Amino acid sequence: MFFFLIKMNFKGKDIISIKDFSKKEINYILSHSKKMVPYAKGERCTDILKGKVLSSFFFEPSTRTRLSFESAMNRLGGRVIGFADPTATSQKKGESLADTIRMADSYSDVIVVRHPQEGAARLAAEFADVPVLNAGDGAGRHPTQCLLDLFTILIEKKKIEKNNIVLLGDLKYGRTVHSLAYALSLFGTELTFVSPENLKMPKEIVQECRELGVEPKHTSNLEKAIKDADVLYVTRIQRERFPDAEEYNRVVGTYRVDNDLLKQAKENLIIMHPLPRITEIHPEVDKTPHALYFKQAFNGVPVRMALLSLVVGGKL
Ligand code: NCD
Repeated sequence: MFFFLIKMNFKGKDIISIKDFSKKEINYILSHSKKMVPYAKGERCTDILKGKVLSSFFFEPSTRTRLSFESAMNRLGGRVIGFADPTATSQKKGESLADTIRMADSYSDVIVVRHPQEGAARLAAEFADVPVLNAGDGAGRHPTQCLLDLFTILIEKKKIEKNNIVLLGDLKYGRTVHSLAYALSLFGTELTFVSPENLKMPKEIVQECRELGVEPKHTSNLEKAIKDADVLYVTRIQRERFPDAEEYNRVVGTYRVDNDLLKQAKENLIIMHPLPRITEIHPEVDKTPHALYFKQAFNGVPVRMALLSLVVGGKL
């Protein structure tokens, strides 16, 4: 449902954590994202950010987040500078993140940063006058992914509230589920966390959900959890965040969504995944009407177009 919303001003605002946004503000961004869809598809053209430059600084690997941000900026008529490989920058010579960000601040109108360290985006925002958008900080948060996840649920289910949502996988290190659990609690959905024992949702995130009035259920029984689910949000095990390879080897392959499991699911269950997928969703699921993850990945473009236009200040 998209409401008529009073105009809000996001110009110059950093997007570091979804916790910095109220439900009203999130709804406003989502309604703005809806308007961007024909532009994101290339069916209509706009140049509201003509003459503006985006710095795209990725200190960690990325496919969708980086490319959808770049596509979004291009679709808005702006330009992109940046890097996807930090070893080709002066970081390699020992330059600090603060100094690298100071440069981006003087070369561009908005900065998107992904970094392996939690808190790096918040730090970057302290050294930049232009808005900084967090594209994922270590095992911390991923607010723009969260907004596109909410947008996907809203489009597919017509509402975010009252859905029964199962978050499956590496809930300990997965930053997308950290942001999403908070945001879904803001909307008062039912939440069930399914994970291997050693990859449970961190206590502080569970506490955040409780403070918003949602008591998440915890289980390792996926067969049972899937029966009542409206949305199954799957994540991969975040191999790169494991301090020791042995620990990773113990949990890899412990869960997998396949057509057999889906026999127990509601007909209108949607399956989401921030991607990349490794083994946790069998490719046979891609052909079922449940599979929403590729559509979800496209939604990154209109949502990031909305965010860029709002923080840089272009009017559609
Ligand atoms: C996620 C990320 O980087 O946190 N991917 C993404 O942004 N679409 C999820 C992941 O890497 O598993």
